[in-house]
Amino acid sequence: MPEDKSVVRLGFLGMGVVGCGAANILLKNAAMIEHRARCRFEIVKVAVRNPKKQRPVKLPPELYTTDPYSVVTDPRVDIVVEVMGGLEPAFDLLVTALKQGKSVVTANKELLAKRGSELLDIAKEVGTDVYFEASVAGGIPIISALKQSLAGETIHRIVGIVNGTTNYILTRMSRDGMSFEQALREAQEKGFAEADPTDDVDGHDATYKIAILAAIAFGFRIKVDAIYREGIRNIDISDIRYADELGYAIKLLAIAKQEDGVIEIRVHPTLVPKTHPLAAVSDQFNAILIEGENVGRLMFYGQGAGGPPTGNSVVSDIIDAARNIVFGSKARIVCTCRVNPKIKPIPEIESRFCLRMDVVDKPGVLARIASVFGSNQVSIASVIQKESQGETAHIVWLTHKTPYAALQKSLNEIKQLDVVLSVRPPLWVESD
Ligand SMILES: NC(=O)c1ccc[n+]([C@@H]2O[C@H](COP(=O)([O-])OP(=O)(O)OC[C@H]3O[C@@H](n4cnc5c(N)ncnc54)[C@H](OP(=O)(O)O)[C@@H]3O)[C@@H](O)[C@H]2O)c1
Repeated sequence: MPEDKSVVRLGFLGMGVVGCGAANILLKNAAMIEHRARCRFEIVKVAVRNPKKQRPVKLPPELYTTDPYSVVTDPRVDIVVEVMGGLEPAFDLLVTALKQGKSVVTANKELLAKRGSELLDIAKEVGTDVYFEASVAGGIPIISALKQSLAGETIHRIVGIVNGTTNYILTRMSRDGMSFEQALREAQEKGFAEADPTDDVDGHDATYKIAILAAIAFGFRIKVDAIYREGIRNIDISDIRYADELGYAIKLLAIAKQEDGVIEIRVHPTLVPKTHPLAAVSDQFNAILIEGENVGRLMFYGQGAGGPPTGNSVVSDIIDAARNIVFGSKARIVCTCRVNPKIKPIPEIESRFCLRMDVVDKPGVLARIASVFGSNQVSIASVIQKESQGETAHIVWLTHKTPYAALQKSLNEIKQLDVVLSVRPPLWVESD
């Protein structure tokens, strides 16, 4: 039996939003955590850029250093907690830590999605652990659910709202009629969006997260660049109003599906039926729907960001990593990826779509456009013609399931028709 009360020493890389969230939980709940983890935690070193900065955490000033390498090479440190972000120097620091047999806990989704497989390979080789619960959906314990609770399950589908910033913006646009720019500005003022919102609004952040989830769920290593990505910049208030009229909400969805070893993986704004559980997820909240062969549907909902929720995920990883240290069982849960995936090319993916266009308001126009769809085997589920404004009529089409390639071919032909004035980018429709 291992020693019941050990001390596990932590070195932090970064003490910002997430670092402070985690450190505060460790300090405040120290006695309870010691009892549950059967070890005591001591933070022995913290690397930051500016040690003089005021931080909402009470740590002795002598713990701070500006040299992150002194953290990862400190022989006292058992677990390196990387909450600094970015690719470098974070990657090199974690490689250095792993090569010395230290356990690693990270919240860094970009690093995980782009170079996680290298870190996991080193950890496997060395016989140590990399934990990354906080890298996807902040406070939602989705990684441990997939790695542990669903370890024996065949997962067919993951559909998630995994970016709180875009969900906040889309919620404000649909609930309060704000423009994209107004909603983005407000999200920035409230701290839900970065000064440079590119990663969030253009869908990069969501691709990192779905890459991580799909890798665990399907056992495949997926390159972020292979993931189809559309952000929400093109969504305007009229898209939201028409979707609403048709009974749909617009959400930025991250989707991964597996069928017969072929993966569909994509991130894009999507019309979600209002009866779908994801349609009700509003503001900055995240939610992930998992469909498994035996378990059926599971829905995980909660805060996808913020110091305390994300800090909780970091602390749960620290406790798991510490248990492995205390009980001599490191590398118990290693990388489970097996093969390279066959990713279905976007043109071959079948989905329903919503299309909007302005056309000249005269008899026969609808029939001409419908015949283009027909000649490309695009089947129309419904069509609405809005009351004309002057010479212009506005038409909204909902298709049945159709390959993306057939849809694009139809749209290219429709744009050439002399009666068609403009065509909005097509929107994907998720079936319930
Ligand atoms: N914020 C969230 O809600 C959230 C949620 C999930 C995941 N994450 C991920 O968690 C990680 C950290 O995010 P955060 O929001 O906590 O970031 P943050 O508030 O900007 O904190 C970053 C910390 O790292 C330090 N740092 C950065 N570069 C450094 C360097 N080269 N050397 C030494 N220290 C350095 C900073 O020092 P100074 O304080 O001195 O500047 C700061 O303490 C990121 O990977 C992020 O994607 C964040």
